Amino acid sequence: MDSSHVEHDLVNILFTEAQIQERLGQMAEAITADYEGKDLLMVGVLRGAVMVMADLSRAMPRHLDMDWMAISSYGSGTKSSGVVRILKDLDTDITGRNVLVVDEIIDTGLTLSWLVNSLGSRGPASIEIATLLRKPEAMAMPVEPKYVGWDIPNEFVVGYGLDYREEYRNLRDIGTLAPHVYS
Ligand code: IMP
Ligand code: MG
Repeated sequence: MDSSHVEHDLVNILFTEAQIQERLGQMAEAITADYEGKDLLMVGVLRGAVMVMADLSRAMPRHLDMDWMAISSYGSGTKSSGVVRILKDLDTDITGRNVLVVDEIIDTGLTLSWLVNSLGSRGPASIEIATLLRKPEAMAMPVEPKYVGWDIPNEFVVGYGLDYREEYRNLRDIGTLAPHVYS
């Protein structure tokens, strides 16, 4: 691919860098208020949540811990299957901790509902989810993110951590890909 024209592969920009930062600032304010006087362990889901974690955490003027998990939800192309495997576990013991799982997008909700179940069995004091984006299908799942940036239509989006075949994660905006990219 012609790597110098990555931006041109976006056919429609849904959220600009400025909009993303503004929304994350609002989410950070809500989280800061909700966790006042409590410890906070933010758990990022690799690899997509790297950008959200970096910006959301830096928008919060308080002490917090960060840890990371990598999970693979078996499934090819653009759909996840809900069969999940831990590729990298937490380094932190979450017993008695207030855990905030940070993700960039919830699509079917299968991955996160599995993850929250799994982490829930380790005895955290609390466990909540913050996600920048949520697609409609996730509404049908028991997984209820407390902090949601935006609800978006059922379209495949890239940028700001979101990938298509591992590319486009480094775009600052979030948008949809031109049809020519898929063919
Ligand atoms: P779920 O189990 O269907 O909720 O899958 C969520 C995961 O699928 C996300 O963490 C992403 O890695 C990936 N995903 C879902 N929708 C998109 C999208 O529109 N663009 C890029 N990745 C996506
Ligand atoms: Mg992800």
